[in-house]
Amino acid sequence: MNLRTEFLEAMSRGATFVTVATTDGEGGRYGVTISSLTPVSADGEQPSLLGCIHHLSPAVPAILKNRAFCANLLAEDQEALSDRFAGRGAPGDHSGRFDATDWTPGPNGQPMIAGATAAFECRLATALLWETHYIIVGRVTHVRRSDNPAALLYGQRAYRRAVGLKGEP
Ligand SMILES: Cc1cc2nc3c(=O)[nH]c(=O)nc-3n(C[C@H](O)[C@H](O)[C@H](O)COP(=O)(O)O)c2cc1C
Repeated sequence: MNLRTEFLEAMSRGATFVTVATTDGEGGRYGVTISSLTPVSADGEQPSLLGCIHHLSPAVPAILKNRAFCANLLAEDQEALSDRFAGRGAPGDHSGRFDATDWTPGPNGQPMIAGATAAFECRLATALLWETHYIIVGRVTHVRRSDNPAALLYGQRAYRRAVGLKGEP
C-alpha cells in the first residue's frame, strides 16, 4: 500500500460532519459538499472557521471574488442533498444543484440551505493555496440553527448518524 492510500484509509476512520459551502455574488452562485470544515476560534474579533476546497472547483474563484460564503451543516436526513452538491449525478452543474434545493439568501446574501442543522454565514478572511486545495478562512457574521440538532456524518466511506454510547438519541 502506498503512502497516499494508507493516508486515505486511515483518514476514512474519522467521521466528520458534512457541510455544503455555498457562495453568491458577482463571482456567481456555486455550492460544493465538503467534509473539511473546521472551527478555528470562537474568541477572535469574530468567530472563525476554515474549509479546504480543491483548486479546480469553480466554487473557489467564486468565493475569492464574492469575498463571502455560507457553511451549511447538513442534517441527518440530507444525504441526497449532500450527493447533489458533490456532483454525483450531474457533475459541474452548479445552477442545477440550487434549482433542486430549497434555499434563501442570508443577511449578507449567501445561500442558506433550508433544513440544514446549522448555517454559518461568513466573510472571506483569507485563502491559501496549499498544493491541490485552497484553505479558505471565514469570519462568521451570522449563525442560524434549525430545530433538528442531528447532523449528517460521513465516515468509513458512508453516511452515518451519531448515536450516544449510553443510549442517547
Ligand atoms: C462527503 C463528501 C465530502 C467531501 N469533502 C470535500 C472537501 O472537503 N473538499 C473538496 O474539495 N471536495 C470534497 N468533496 C468532493 C466535492 O463535493 C466534489 O468534488 C465537487 O462538488 C465536484 O464538483 P465541482 O468540481 O463542480 O465543484 C466531498 C464529497 C463528499 C461526498
